Amino acid sequence: MERDGNNRSIWQDVPDRTIGKISNREDVDVLVIGAGITGMTAALALQEEGQICSVLEANSIAFGTTGGTSAHLNTVLDTPYSDIIKQHGLDKTREVLQSTRRAMDLIRDNVEKYAIDCDLIDCNGQMYATTGEEKEELQKIKDAILQLGISCSEIDNLAIPVKPLYAIEFAEQGHFNPTKYILGLAGAFEALGGMIVTGALVQHVKRIDGRLSVTTADGRVFRADKVIYATHTTPGIQLMNFRIAPYRSYLQLWELADHAAYPDKVLYDMEDPFHYFRTVVQGENRFLLVGGQDHKTAHGENENVNFLELQAFVTARFNTKRKVYQWSSQYYESQDALPFIGYYPGKSDGRELIATGFGGNGMIFGSLSGHMLADLILKETCEFEKLYSPTRFGPLSSVKDLVMENVDVVKHFVKDRLAVDKIEGLSELAKGEAAVLKYEGKRIGIYKDQEGAISAVDPVCRHAGCIVKWNNTEESWDCPCHGARYGINGELLTGPAVAPLASHDIDKL
Ligand code: FES
Repeated sequence: MERDGNNRSIWQDVPDRTIGKISNREDVDVLVIGAGITGMTAALALQEEGQICSVLEANSIAFGTTGGTSAHLNTVLDTPYSDIIKQHGLDKTREVLQSTRRAMDLIRDNVEKYAIDCDLIDCNGQMYATTGEEKEELQKIKDAILQLGISCSEIDNLAIPVKPLYAIEFAEQGHFNPTKYILGLAGAFEALGGMIVTGALVQHVKRIDGRLSVTTADGRVFRADKVIYATHTTPGIQLMNFRIAPYRSYLQLWELADHAAYPDKVLYDMEDPFHYFRTVVQGENRFLLVGGQDHKTAHGENENVNFLELQAFVTARFNTKRKVYQWSSQYYESQDALPFIGYYPGKSDGRELIATGFGGNGMIFGSLSGHMLADLILKETCEFEKLYSPTRFGPLSSVKDLVMENVDVVKHFVKDRLAVDKIEGLSELAKGEAAVLKYEGKRIGIYKDQEGAISAVDPVCRHAGCIVKWNNTEESWDCPCHGARYGINGELLTGPAVAPLASHDIDKL
């Protein structure tokens, strides 16, 4: 199984299974773009109800965020309920909780119905503070959790070897193996007659003769009554891409010296950005998964330092034996902490639907949105429709956040054009290094591999023209504006761009 980076995630360790075909069925009821958890959940729910449905995936199944998640299943979200209450009020926050409970049930139902072996575990969560300031914040979070009706209590000891100043434990959490789960969904979908088409990068969607015409980069054309964008961002310059911001999180998997030391709960600290913990079971083996160090995509100085800092954090607290995996993954924050799920704004006939802005709770909101979008298509209404509507008018604070995010985009558009490294010759670039530089009067992105071979790309992002930045752990060119990502030679890894970076012939520079 492949994913969108150089580092390997444990979720790629799944048995090979032939999924994805070149489909000659080019006319369907619903086209789902993206074969992650959102797309596969929606596609299966629609196919179950007799819709003829195809999934178009630019790369391979679980290539994006689903293959890089920590796969926590939470009803207690990354954004504290105390903050959500402050932004959206108590009634809406109660609905948010209800929706996360619904998502947990939907996952359990699919696992049971299709006998999906995906290591699904129900467990409690723990959250802890180590400073007075963190304790104050955590007490507010505890009060909000209790106010909403989740069972929660103060505890003295944690499931990990950290002595907290203050800690709480709450019910209704869990974790699973995300790729085993969506391969199970994909198998069920295909068994019901659904088609998954891999290697199908959607370039644009147009209305022709009252239907939607979807064209892929290799020139294929598909037609459908409805289209679901299950890709976080949508292809091209679209309003929704300006209402979310891309972030990256860093994850490591450790074997511990003491087999009994693996936590039987999901855990979170209160640092900013916070760390998260869970146990991963793989056959006879157990591993500790720790993540954190989050930052806006392409806003870090040196991505590798995040892994070093995470490693220092883990080894200072756990009796570790060896590090088994490390990888980073991209997710998208909305401006008001709630996802956008529903009809695509500005496309008034309701034929295009979107789900995005899941924050760090993609498994829950991906599952929820798959079902919500399927219901919108089947019944023209769904539970939580208003709460998560992409056309909702958020609180004033969220409008301010949106403005600030886009000020940041403009800043990068201007500043990064001026900021180039200066080197006299390519020999100054060390092996394994990359830089955006002026060379012979041209601005180019140059990467020198471990053998000394050079690849050169035009660093202007093919989405809206910001300058990409080298990510030295995933070996990708990442865009700081809306999160498009490209491989060493400019090949497209992540939208909203729909074309690769232009490459330069180094011999002709
Ligand atoms: Fe929008 Fe690069 S992703 S400019």
